[in-house]
Amino acid sequence: MSDRSRHLIGLLLGAEEDWPQAFEALLQRVGPVNIDGAEHEFGSRRLTIEPFDLNDPVRVGLVIDRLAYWYYHPREWLKKAALMNGTYLLNSPFTFQSMEKHSAYCAMLRLGLKIPRTVLVPYKNPVDNVRWAYTSAKYNKGFDLDAIAEDLGYPMYMKPFDGGGWRGVSRINNKVDLHQAYDQSGEMLMHLQATVEYDKFARALSIGAETMVMDFRPDEPMHNRYAVSHDFLSPSAGHQAIAISRIVNAFFGWEFNSCEMLVKGDSVHPIDYANACPDVAVTSLHYYFPWAISALVKWSVFSLATGRRSSVDLHTERYFAIADDESLDYDAKISAYLALADEHFETAKYHEWCAEHLGDFDARVRDWVAGPDFDRLLRETITTTYPENEHEQFYAHFKGLTNLWLSDQTADH
Ligand SMILES: Nc1ncnc2c1ncn2[C@@H]1O[C@H](COP(=O)(O)OP(=O)(O)OP(=O)(O)O)[C@@H](O)[C@H]1O
Ligand SMILES: [Mg+2]
Repeated sequence: MSDRSRHLIGLLLGAEEDWPQAFEALLQRVGPVNIDGAEHEFGSRRLTIEPFDLNDPVRVGLVIDRLAYWYYHPREWLKKAALMNGTYLLNSPFTFQSMEKHSAYCAMLRLGLKIPRTVLVPYKNPVDNVRWAYTSAKYNKGFDLDAIAEDLGYPMYMKPFDGGGWRGVSRINNKVDLHQAYDQSGEMLMHLQATVEYDKFARALSIGAETMVMDFRPDEPMHNRYAVSHDFLSPSAGHQAIAISRIVNAFFGWEFNSCEMLVKGDSVHPIDYANACPDVAVTSLHYYFPWAISALVKWSVFSLATGRRSSVDLHTERYFAIADDESLDYDAKISAYLALADEHFETAKYHEWCAEHLGDFDARVRDWVAGPDFDRLLRETITTTYPENEHEQFYAHFKGLTNLWLSDQTADH
């Protein structure tokens, strides 16, 4: 083995500039890492979209992707890289198709998690296909929408089975809402879901073996959705929120994902947890932004330097065996799934490895956040995101929150 390895990380990006620049700046601050006498160096490049031969080599060892969930050419390139080149991918492209809410609901229901009761109803408008008339005449069974709704109970939510971005989501308070929403659903395939009357909306962002559970306020404007509050859940609910996010990710082979949970007392109800490649913009994460980007850097570096492999297999039977074990109650099952998830993420090894090899990285992150480069990045992001008359107001808002993060770090160290 040579005593020098250079690892290249590929970034597949959409419109964003803020977190990629932060990632590139922080990766430069990792410096060579010495493992058993071998020097490991890390660099990154932004990937471009171009024709590829299925036999082409891939230069990057790991890819962080924010594009493939909506753009299929790089999605298919990722699948080729995973199968042909052994490229390490944070999210398995093979379960991208399961990223519709529906499969994720089914899988976690199978594990006994507290998914609100959900019914899938047929399309309001027939699919545009010549075979439809025959199928409809022969097999399409009439159904009583009102009876389903009565059974679920008002109020409820109607939302697309593969939803995201609040498209087509409505709260249904009565029969009139029900028929109006269903008539408008047209060619979208809809779930009806029982309402959870929640105290807190917890949104957990997971990056590899790290998870941050945040107090999310979906009704606030984007810049104000994440509240900075550290003990907003009971210890039990907080533990479940972390565990459930990790379990979902380990189950599907995702390492960069967010999980939305509705929390009522100590009961945690996951409702949306197929958000791989989640938003990590400084203008939404603010206080949590330095944590998120340094976790992305650390996890990528750890995975490359330790030769971690991403697997295309899901090993669902290990989870189902726990689900089917009648001697285990809900809490015991959560603990058993969490143990599988932590094994999958090598959680203990990751933290030890970071302490040993990236000991001063956190201090470098703090210096960067306190310095001129981050300030420039923040100002540029604000300039491109908000109208001119709001620049100063938003600069003060985000600077205040990132400074709060800085002073909390100093207090901790
Ligand atoms: N079962 C439920 N009980 C209570 N509130 C719900 C339920 N389902 C959805 N909601 C509310 O509707 C919002 C949107 O739902 P959901 O997250 O499922 O859709 P989405 O399209 O993924 O939206 P987003 O992109 O904001 O996450 C949630 O933030 C929540 O406030
Ligand atoms: Mg959601």
